Parts: sequence; C-alpha cells; structure tokens
Amino acid sequence: AGVKGTLSERTFIAIKPDGVQRALVGKIITRFEDRGYKLVGLKALAPSKELAEKHYEDLKERPFFAGLVKYMTSGTPVIAMVWEGKDVIRQGRKMLGETNPLDSAPGTIRGQYCTTVGRNIIHGSDSFESAEKEIGMWFGKAGDLVEWTPANVDWV
Ligand code: PPS
Repeated sequence: AGVKGTLSERTFIAIKPDGVQRALVGKIITRFEDRGYKLVGLKALAPSKELAEKHYEDLKERPFFAGLVKYMTSGTPVIAMVWEGKDVIRQGRKMLGETNPLDSAPGTIRGQYCTTVGRNIIHGSDSFESAEKEIGMWFGKAGDLVEWTPANVDWV
C-alpha cells in the first residue's frame, strides 16, 4: 500500500454492486480525482464467493456475513480500485462516510447516496494493514498496478 503518510500511500476502494447498478461509478471516481488522488488500479469483476469471504473474513461470525457475501457476489460487478496519495487511507474513509448511512454526513458518498447499511455503495480500507491485504487480494501480490506521474503533482 505504498509508504504510509507519503504521496505513495495507497488504499483499496471498491464500488459495490448497488453502486454499479445505480450508475454511481463515474461520480465516485470524479470525487477521488477532484480531491487530488491518483488512480493506479482499476478493474470490474464479479467476485467469487471465495474472494468475497476472504475479503470479509474478519466478519465471518457476524449475523450479516452470509447476506453481505451474497450481496457482493450477486453477479453485478464490483469496481475494484487502488487510489494513491497523501493520507488516502484515512481521507478515503472520510469521503465514504460512516458504515451506517444514518451517521454519514451529507456530502460524503454514503451521506449523499444511500440509506441502508446493507446497501452502502462503497468499501474503503480502514487501515494501512487492511489496505496492503486487500490490494494483494484483489490485484495480486505482484501488483497489477501502474506507476505514473501526474503533470501537476506539486499542486495538490
Ligand atoms: S463492525 O461492526 O465495526 O465490525 O462493522 P464495520 O467494520 O463497521 O463493518 C464491517 C463491514 O460490514 C458491513 N456491514 C454490514 N453489511 C450488511 N449488513 C449489515 N447489517 C452490516 N453491518 C456492517 C459494513 O458495510 C462493512 O463493510 P465495508 O464493505 O467495509 O463497508
């Protein structure tokens, strides 16, 4: 996940099936671009049950686990992304809003577009360690990611 606290910090962001069905992909990408973050990985995939279960493995004892996996593996793709930039892990979580949309401030992604925790549009890594793990899981350890330098790097 790059180097924590530097311009190379990276986070894993996934637009969930409801976000794709509701055609919010462009709006969400625009928010991250507008903030000054750099897209270094992007793919659309319908995750396998195995991948979804692994991604949420810490929640496997929770009552909503089966429903969460079913939602993620509905057949509608997930848009898996890696975004790079200063403090992108914490800042990304702020841009998403809270897990429960009722607690999400208006202006955040969840605060603007959703009302239900089980349909909360988007996932973002909650720590540097989670980001490393999730990027590896969704993009492969070799890093199916691109390195590039924005022309205006000094301005954001
Ligand atoms: S907790 O309670 O702190 O462990 O939960 P949290 O870290 O906030 O959420 C972990 C992920 O579980 C999702 N979640 C749910 N999905 C479906 N139904 C219910 N009731 C539910 N509660 C929590 C939540 O959206 C988190 O997923 P991501 O993809 O990380 O947002």
